[in-house]
Amino acid sequence: MDTSKEPSSTSNDYDVLPRHVGIIMDGNGRWATKRSLPRTAGHWEGLKAAKRVTLEASVIGIPYITFYAFSTENWKRSTQEVAYIMDLLATRLFGELDFYTKHNIRVLTRGDLSKLSEPARAAIEATERATREFTGTCVIIAVNHGGQDEIVRAVNRWLAVRTSQEPCTLETIRTYCDLPQVPPVDLIVRPGCEKRLSNFLLWDSAYAELIFYDTLWPDWGPKHLRLALDEYAKRARRFGGVPT
Ligand code: IPE
Ligand code: IPE
Ligand code: MG
Repeated sequence: MDTSKEPSSTSNDYDVLPRHVGIIMDGNGRWATKRSLPRTAGHWEGLKAAKRVTLEASVIGIPYITFYAFSTENWKRSTQEVAYIMDLLATRLFGELDFYTKHNIRVLTRGDLSKLSEPARAAIEATERATREFTGTCVIIAVNHGGQDEIVRAVNRWLAVRTSQEPCTLETIRTYCDLPQVPPVDLIVRPGCEKRLSNFLLWDSAYAELIFYDTLWPDWGPKHLRLALDEYAKRARRFGGVPT
């Protein structure tokens, strides 16, 4: 797949880097509609943008980056659009294995995978298995993800193994969420004009910095990620404390 839309930089000059960046990849449909193309064409271009931004994140050395690919609410879309997105996942995810290998990228997924098609689940399992030893950037695909759904599933997992009347704590939710080993998201960026989280990483976004952009996701590339990182570096994070 062509990722050469914009050249990748090879230097990492950031003093303050988020450990975990979350991207709400929005605007694919509008990108396509503006060009009189079917919405699916926007999803295809969105996939190419995801690859460009992944490469840049890996060059910069961001430890974790989560891409919101499909929400628990996106099933409301037409059968054809949902099928296209699921097919992209099933055919393209594992298909990029050479790319992950070349760049030492580990791939994980986050969300309720039980509702996915068998080919999509198989592609996810194969990709996770094939990249599990890679130590560079960890790319997390949030698919059939909903922040609320993840909290409910975490509580239910805990209830299934709970042996006493111990109460649910903050630590309980974190321990039983989908990827407890992944740190909370530091920075969430949302292209595509809308200023909302749309059920993305609700628990872990408690103290995330939020940045919104008008540029539609398919037009994103390395420079947009770098703009977001520049903005993040200017933010004063206090976590309820006082300015230092
Ligand atoms: C985001 O782009 C991709 C998914 C939600 C799967 P959209 O498909 O929501 O694009 P717009 O918001 O309709 O332009
Ligand atoms: C959020 O985009 C979900 C993903 C990017 C996967 P949506 O397009 O579904 O969000 P809303 O409906 O505008 O809030
Ligand atoms: Mg949208």
